[in-house]
Amino acid sequence: MKILGIESSCDETAAAIIEDGTKVLSNVVNSQVKIHAEFGGVVPEVAARSHVEAINPVVEMTLEQANLTWDDIDAIAVTHAPGLSGSLLVGVLAARTLAIIKKKPLYAVHHILSHFYANFLSNENIEFPVLSLTVSGGHSQLVLYKNEFEFTQLGTTTDDAVGEAFDKVAKIIGLPYPGGPAIEKVSKIGENRFKFPKPKTQNPYDFSFSGLKTAVLRQAQAQIGKDYTFPSFKIAENLSEKDQIDIATSFQTTAIDILTSKTKLAYDEYKPKTVALAGGVSANSALRESFSKNFDNVIMPEFKFCTDNAAMVGAQAYFWAQKHDPINPYTLDVDPNLSINDL
Ligand code: KG4
Ligand code: ZN
Repeated sequence: MKILGIESSCDETAAAIIEDGTKVLSNVVNSQVKIHAEFGGVVPEVAARSHVEAINPVVEMTLEQANLTWDDIDAIAVTHAPGLSGSLLVGVLAARTLAIIKKKPLYAVHHILSHFYANFLSNENIEFPVLSLTVSGGHSQLVLYKNEFEFTQLGTTTDDAVGEAFDKVAKIIGLPYPGGPAIEKVSKIGENRFKFPKPKTQNPYDFSFSGLKTAVLRQAQAQIGKDYTFPSFKIAENLSEKDQIDIATSFQTTAIDILTSKTKLAYDEYKPKTVALAGGVSANSALRESFSKNFDNVIMPEFKFCTDNAAMVGAQAYFWAQKHDPINPYTLDVDPNLSINDL
C-alpha cells in the first residue's frame, strides 16, 4: 500500500510516499527555518503563508522523486492535529482537495503519534511493548505502546516542552534559532559548570521545563552581575562566550538527565521490550547516547526523520488504516490542541 503523506503542522512543508508503513519511496521537506531564524522563533502567520506557497510544489516533487503518478497512490494521509491552526489548515485543505479530485481514501494523523511511527522507517522487527519518549518543540511525552494500534500516555507536558526550553534558553544566551542544534553544538566543547534544578512533578512521568528555563535565566543574569529585573533580551550582548557555552552545556546535561531518569522510572515499572525515542529533540546526539547507555533495546529514527517530515505521516497512516476507516474529505477539520488521549 502506497500512501502519500502531507505534513504542515509547524514550520516544515513536507510530503512523502511510504510503502507499507516502512519503505520510503520519496521524502521532500521544505524547511522555513531560515525565514523564522530572523525573528528568533516561528511566526505563525508567516509560517501559514509560506506553507501556501510551498504545498503544491512539494507534493508534485514527492511524486516526481518516487517516479510515480497519482494512479500508483493508494491513499492520502495528513497531519490534522496538533499544531499551529493556520499551518495545519494548509496541509489539511490540500489533502482534502487531492483526496476528492484524485478519488483516494483520506487518513488523518496525530502529529505526536506520527513522530513515534518514524521509528518504523529505520528499524525492523520492533518488539512490543514499546516505551516511547517523544520530545519536540511542542511536546514531551512518555507513551507505552502495547502494539501498533494501542497505547497509554504515561505522562505529558505540563508547561514548556523540552524543545521549547532548548529554543528559549538559546535565545536568552544569544545562540541562534532553532536552539536545539545550536546548544548541542556548543555543548561538545562546554563545561558542565552550573547545577540546575530538576523540577518534581505530581505525576512522576509528567514533564516540566519552565522552572529549568527560569533557573538558566537567573544564572545568566547572575553571570553578568545583574538581578532578576534585568531584561532577558539584553543578557546575550553582555555574556562572555565561556559563560554562554557553559550555561548551554549545563542546561543540556540537566535536560537529558531529566528525560533519561523519567524514562528509566517508567522502564523499571512497565518493563517494556523496547525503548524508543522520537521527535525533533531526539536528533540530539547526547540524548541518543544517554539512551543507548541506559537501556538495552533502544530504537530511534534516523536524524532526517526526527524533526518534522511527512514520511512518518505515511507510516502512521498505514498502521492506522488497518484499524480505522478513512475520514470524510468533505468534513475533516484541523484540531490544534487534540491530545492523544482523545483519539
Ligand atoms: O519535532 P519538531 O521538528 O517540531 C515540533 O513538532 O515541534 O521539533 C522541533 C524542536 C525544536 O524545539 C528544536 O530546537 C528541537 O526540536 N531540536 C533539537 C535538536 N534538533 C532539533 N533539540 C536538541 N538537540 C537537537 N539536535
Ligand atoms: Zn514535530
